[in-house]
Amino acid sequence: MKLVELNNYEEISEYAANIIAEEIKNNPDCKLGLATGSTPVGLYKVLVDKYNKGELDFSKVKTVNLDEYKGLSKEHEQSYFYYMNEHLFSKVNINLENVNLPNGLAEDETEECIRYGKMLKEVGERDIQVLGIGENGHIGFNEPDEIFTKRTHCIELTESTINANARLFEHKEEVPKYAYTMGIKEILNAKTIILIAYGEKKKDILKKSLNGEITPATPASILQLCKNLIVITQSK
Ligand code: F6R
Repeated sequence: MKLVELNNYEEISEYAANIIAEEIKNNPDCKLGLATGSTPVGLYKVLVDKYNKGELDFSKVKTVNLDEYKGLSKEHEQSYFYYMNEHLFSKVNINLENVNLPNGLAEDETEECIRYGKMLKEVGERDIQVLGIGENGHIGFNEPDEIFTKRTHCIELTESTINANARLFEHKEEVPKYAYTMGIKEILNAKTIILIAYGEKKKDILKKSLNGEITPATPASILQLCKNLIVITQSK
């Protein structure tokens, strides 16, 4: 594991974006695993800036996202497709046929999990997987549990996650109760994993995840087993 401790959010975003930018330059048809949430907003901004300067070409890049709320359409402002479109897809020359997220409106939950898992298998090992971490240690939406779930599944979100994400909705009741998420084995199928953590609320859980027991009760603790994990966080 490589631990990179930086001074502020801007430096964290820049550092993470530079790793991804180098990958795109060296490997134009690279496969990226992407995350949503507040943490990677800055990293996408840096990537868009680089694209606008003519430094990056996304035309052959393929992406898979970690998760999507069940019940939200692509057009819903809080859906993860909407987020990705706002922060990255609509701002660069990525081919929308090369981007993948679970379909929040899928009629059949089981079928949707099978479809997404199959797609992930076909894409194979990603070059880079970006991760944030939940206040309860979740990665993707793999919430604390008694087992690590390997494959894509639909999960009931915990109260902690609903509360943390309520800030983005007008009323807490609007936060979806379920979400589709890549499973742990699928998340780990990447040559390099970049975990970004920023803010007071993430300090203790990050420490516990990186140094504590490896247990599904702290899903991010599984990352201790990754060969190539880069943790980018703040120094104080
Ligand atoms: C988002 C995701 C989540 C977030 C985590 C942290 O796609 O998979 O695991 O990374 O909830 O979210 P923020 O960055 O909003 O604190």
